[in-house]
Amino acid sequence: MYVVNNIPGPGIDVADFEAEYSVGCSCVEKCSNCSCTRGPDNYINARIVDEKLAGPVFECNAYCTCGPNCGNRLVQNGPLSCLTVRQHPDKGLGLFTTKLIKKGQFICEYAGEVIGLEEARRRVEANKHKAMNYVLVVSEHVGDRAIATCIDPTYFGNIGRYANHSCWPNSSLVPIRIEGIVPRLCLFASRDIENEEEVTFDYAGGAMANSVHYLSDTPCLCGSSNCFRYLPHNQI
Ligand SMILES: C[S@@+](CC[C@H](N)C(=O)[O-])C[C@H]1O[C@@H](n2cnc3c(N)ncnc32)[C@H](O)[C@@H]1O
Ligand SMILES: [Zn+2]
Ligand SMILES: [Zn+2]
Ligand SMILES: [Zn+2]
Repeated sequence: MYVVNNIPGPGIDVADFEAEYSVGCSCVEKCSNCSCTRGPDNYINARIVDEKLAGPVFECNAYCTCGPNCGNRLVQNGPLSCLTVRQHPDKGLGLFTTKLIKKGQFICEYAGEVIGLEEARRRVEANKHKAMNYVLVVSEHVGDRAIATCIDPTYFGNIGRYANHSCWPNSSLVPIRIEGIVPRLCLFASRDIENEEEVTFDYAGGAMANSVHYLSDTPCLCGSSNCFRYLPHNQI
């Protein structure tokens, strides 16, 4: 079933999922170095700044005094409209663009059921011998704490679920928080993506990944010259 935004699934406390921030910034004109951007701008001319690709990014919310045109509101304005799903000869379906996407642009979210770590493990294990795996686990390191966000768009998801892995990807997945603590996992172009090109990201997490690559036993068909030959192992 198509969902525009994440929905809570098993292993998630619905109260936590629905809890919204009740404070915002008090900026009038431009949000820069405010309590939302937490330092320099997250976005310049609606493109994510390279240093913010590793996240975390906080956008302005309903409690901020800045207006709807504030530069710190991007993902909340929705995905690109030039995305389409096509059959790839070897990898099943894939996500493609019908227009040039410039480096730093927000593409779309990888949305689905937000599930707990145990449920994610259970689903990956149960799905082991089937063709596709959609469960994505993103770890963020905040001080000495690790926050894992597990998204499964197998049953409820958006167009992001069709994005395939590449060892030389053209987009990065960034955790973005808008109204509450559960991040949205958002794809941003990490270089210009040509019209008709496939949109891909590194399932191992790109900027957030460990330097060690754990590989699964599913052959990688990304076709890049630096291909690791197998898809990354789901680190859960
Ligand atoms: C999130 S889905 C991507 C969309 C999927 N191709 C489809 O048809 O729905 C992830 C699955 O796609 C396939 N896949 C993604 N990237 C691949 C790659 N580089 N090489 C081979 N298969 C890939 C694998 O089966 C993987 O478990
Ligand atoms: Zn502000
Ligand atoms: Zn704000
Ligand atoms: Zn590869």
